[in-house]
Amino acid sequence: MPVLRTQGLTVRFGGLTALNNVNFEVASGEIRAIIGPNGAGKSTFFNCLTGVIRPTAGRVLLNGEDVAGLPSNRISQKGIARSYQITNILPNATTLENVRIAAQSRRHGWSMLRHHANFRDILDKAEAVLHAVGLGSKAEELAANLSHGDQRNLEIGIALATQPQVLCLDEPTAGMSAAETHETMELVRRIAKNLTILIVEHDMQVVMELASRITVLHYGEVLAEGAPAEIQDNPKVQEVYLKT
Ligand SMILES: Nc1ncnc2c1ncn2[C@@H]1O[C@H](COP(=O)(O)OP(=O)(O)O)[C@@H](O)[C@H]1O
Ligand SMILES: [Mg+2]
Repeated sequence: MPVLRTQGLTVRFGGLTALNNVNFEVASGEIRAIIGPNGAGKSTFFNCLTGVIRPTAGRVLLNGEDVAGLPSNRISQKGIARSYQITNILPNATTLENVRIAAQSRRHGWSMLRHHANFRDILDKAEAVLHAVGLGSKAEELAANLSHGDQRNLEIGIALATQPQVLCLDEPTAGMSAAETHETMELVRRIAKNLTILIVEHDMQVVMELASRITVLHYGEVLAEGAPAEIQDNPKVQEVYLKT
């Protein structure tokens, strides 16, 4: 059974159909890239999966359970997390605190802070996450003082700290240098061992190297889906990308 599946997912904003009857499924452990021109509906798709917006129609099945329309905190607790294109970081908290708060919020609410053993447990998890995203040595830095690239990686850490089954990354390398992009791709590969990743990414080379399969959205519909080589050779896909 796929870990995540959508059936007939449709989003209309007034007269504009941003997603039209999207049927999608991803297997557990996969790294799936979602590509498509600007305005294709990629962010809207993630917004539906993570409860930021309620779809006009259709279902979002996480392990067979329909989570469409649930508020984002409930969906996060059920196991779908995302990092935002717009930053989600608390700038005046340290790097470690940012991740710890996310780990905390996921499961139990603030009352757990009273229990020392559990607090230690959460702190250990937060530290492990920081190491996974390459920020172990910057735990005590204020998040505001991190470089842009480190802040983007911290966003991934914040999402990861909620212990998701499915992690949605919306253009995680936006604004990064080539070296930072490379590091972030290594990071994604590292963390992918234990979860399913959906990634929107513009850099084709990055997508081809990282993803096991690619889904192409165009005008809110699935234009093509397949292994990277198939997508690269697909005439419909080539046409869309030559036009933009
Ligand atoms: N909240 C919104 N209200 C109205 N229109 C929106 C909203 N969000 C996205 N859209 C429109 O939906 C379409 C898909 O947008 P989006 O999902 O952001 O595309 P992508 O991420 O692929 O660039 C675009 O035409 C965009 O202008
Ligand atoms: Mg977008």
